Amino acid sequence: MTDLIALTQAGLFEKNVPRYTSYPTAPHFHAEVGRSHFADWLGALDTSKPVSLYIHIPFCERLCWFCACRTQGVTTLSPVAAYLEVLLAEIAMFKAQKPEGLKLARLHFGGGSPTILSPDMIRNLTTAIRDAIEFDENYEFSVEIDPTACNDEKIAALAKGGMNRASIGVQDFNERVQGAIGRPQGFDLTKSTVDSLRRHGIESVNIDMVYGLPYQDLEALQNTVAQVISLSPDRVALFGYAHVPWMAKRQKMIPEESLAPPEARFEQAMTAAEMFTQTGMMEIGIDHFAKPEDSLAIAAKNGGLRRNFQGYTDDRCSALIGLGASSISRFPQGYIQNNAATTTYLKSIKSGEWSAARGFALGPADQVRSRAIEVLMCDFEVDIAALEAEYGSFAKPVRADCKRMAKTYPDFVSFHNDTFTILDAGRPLTRIIASGFDAFNAPNHRHSRAI
Ligand SMILES: C[S@@+](CC[C@H](N)C(=O)[O-])C[C@H]1O[C@@H](n2cnc3c(N)ncnc32)[C@H](O)[C@@H]1O
Ligand code: SF4
Repeated sequence: MTDLIALTQAGLFEKNVPRYTSYPTAPHFHAEVGRSHFADWLGALDTSKPVSLYIHIPFCERLCWFCACRTQGVTTLSPVAAYLEVLLAEIAMFKAQKPEGLKLARLHFGGGSPTILSPDMIRNLTTAIRDAIEFDENYEFSVEIDPTACNDEKIAALAKGGMNRASIGVQDFNERVQGAIGRPQGFDLTKSTVDSLRRHGIESVNIDMVYGLPYQDLEALQNTVAQVISLSPDRVALFGYAHVPWMAKRQKMIPEESLAPPEARFEQAMTAAEMFTQTGMMEIGIDHFAKPEDSLAIAAKNGGLRRNFQGYTDDRCSALIGLGASSISRFPQGYIQNNAATTTYLKSIKSGEWSAARGFALGPADQVRSRAIEVLMCDFEVDIAALEAEYGSFAKPVRADCKRMAKTYPDFVSFHNDTFTILDAGRPLTRIIASGFDAFNAPNHRHSRAI
């Protein structure tokens, strides 16, 4: 049984901690890592290993007030067309500067709303990518789909370009909740989008949901979960609403008093998780669910689960290259983020320069912490002996952290035979426990809630 008092004492309801989609997290990136690093690290890629490519489309027809993503609202397609032209130029730079023979195993279109692109724009973009890099035979190509900015023709164009996975934004179907987040979206429209994706042969459909939204009570959430289950998604991402109005200014539209207290959020998360697992879906990491036959569940069972900027993935590529404004790349040597301001991004690429603005070069001490935090977030377990075998004495501080955390959270973690484990009772504390391995961690109320 969940020991709420002990979890409360451990800080579950008051701590704000990162979601650890990278280590170090993006606020620690700095301007000393930029363009020249991007060119060098791209040129040094090992061509015997395929790479992942992330393409950011920072535009939406609607701007939902809850959304913390980097995107801007547009009423016509002309800014999107201007952006696409520059994105195509960046893809051409990538083609010219990547090592000969490099292959692509993963492609992801994210945003914003990639489905704001017209079918012609989708064709131009996918053709340019296929021209720039050869696709591995087992490639996966996923796209974030906003059902209100999508139609059959766009799905057909994406499927023709190779899309074989899709992620649909739902958040919540309750009308009052949708009204409070500025995001009307009917169940019927969502269902017809899922049906269209399946008709076009998309193998894996993910649905994004959010708990802790304004006016969202347990009943609203349970109804949405039941509706989501009726769509039979292969995967579900259940995010806790991150209320960070100091970063995402549009969230100022959401009255603080409409938000459930942390204890109620926790109950929502637990209830939704129970409903999904009762259907036979497997719980993956801290916030995902997948059918047992889905590749994410298989990866989780085989120890192949990874975490990147899109959340949980079974992507094993050694590098993720992000193109488009604000995209983040991960090379074996470190992270690099493109300029977040679309105008600065456009200016750099138009002048023939990479738009890399900031990043972080990973030394071995960072690499070992990055790996420890990633495996904790994925498998709830760190094998210290394996880290020491790989990183030698650089793993020593992580061993010391394991001992310290075992003393701090005796009811929630164990450290025996060189294996540090977050026990079932401690899983709600995973982000807090992971932050104990973060050398940059300082009390920081700028992050979102731990639950
Ligand atoms: C980049 S958005 C793209 C979704 C797509 N544009 C749509 O609306 O369908 C990806 C996901 O991030 C999640 N998200 C955005 N803002 C969030 C926030 N403040 N807290 C938690 N999750 C958030 C939502 O679940 C959303 O579906
Ligand atoms: S949730 Fe999707 S459609 Fe809404 S603002 Fe965010 S990216 Fe745009």
